[in-house]
Amino acid sequence: MKPSQPAQGLFITFEGIDGAGKSSHIETLAQAFAAAGRSVTLTREPGGTPLAEQLRALLLHQAMDALTEVLLVFAARRDHLCQVIEPALARGEVVLCDRFTDATFAYQGAGRGFDWKTLSNLELLAQTGCGQQAGLMRNPDLTLWFDLPPAMAAARLAAARQPDRFEAQPQAFFSLVAQGYAERARQAGQRFARIDAAATREQVAAAMLAAVAQRGWLTAADPQAGSGALP
Ligand code: TYD
Repeated sequence: MKPSQPAQGLFITFEGIDGAGKSSHIETLAQAFAAAGRSVTLTREPGGTPLAEQLRALLLHQAMDALTEVLLVFAARRDHLCQVIEPALARGEVVLCDRFTDATFAYQGAGRGFDWKTLSNLELLAQTGCGQQAGLMRNPDLTLWFDLPPAMAAARLAAARQPDRFEAQPQAFFSLVAQGYAERARQAGQRFARIDAAATREQVAAAMLAAVAQRGWLTAADPQAGSGALP
């Protein structure tokens, strides 16, 4: 890379049902990018800004109807995108985000049964018009989908801490959520990399790093990579 050319921003999201183990791998990928000379912003949804973190607390612990839930999720996302994600991408950073809009289609759409067309409309509205990409909807450059059978995820969650509103759902809910992710992956094609999360922790980490390296993003910062290539 020529020193005068700043790296292009790169937006990578982590998805999967609760208990799939994605969170433990985000730090590994952050370190790999740092070792490749990239600046990394680590963030999460719902959350990532003071306002969105307040909305997260409500979403995870407060009973509400399905439309309220969807509107709060997208309100949090809009604030996060405008305040954190777009500015970091504009600075040429790698943004690693624990969940994004695929979670809304999987949890609120497939899990709760909320209309997908309405979610698509809200997605377009919330993810357009802040940051550099005027007029274009912001989408991740890559979504790492940690896919685990719901029964295995339930067993892992049973050993975990006090469950929130989503984690407390029955296994049947997570079967629907898993189907939602599979459908999003089918629709999005190239953007998704499916990681077999039933493998050992080391194998999962290796598969994740391979999926990123395969796209040429883990070598020294490449100015042509990532969000600059968006249509
Ligand atoms: P999660 O990544 O599981 O946080 P933690 O690891 O701290 O438990 O996210 C919190 C929950 O939010 C998770 O159960 C899924 C849910 N969620 C939605 O229902 N819709 C969304 O759009 C997002 C981003 C998350």
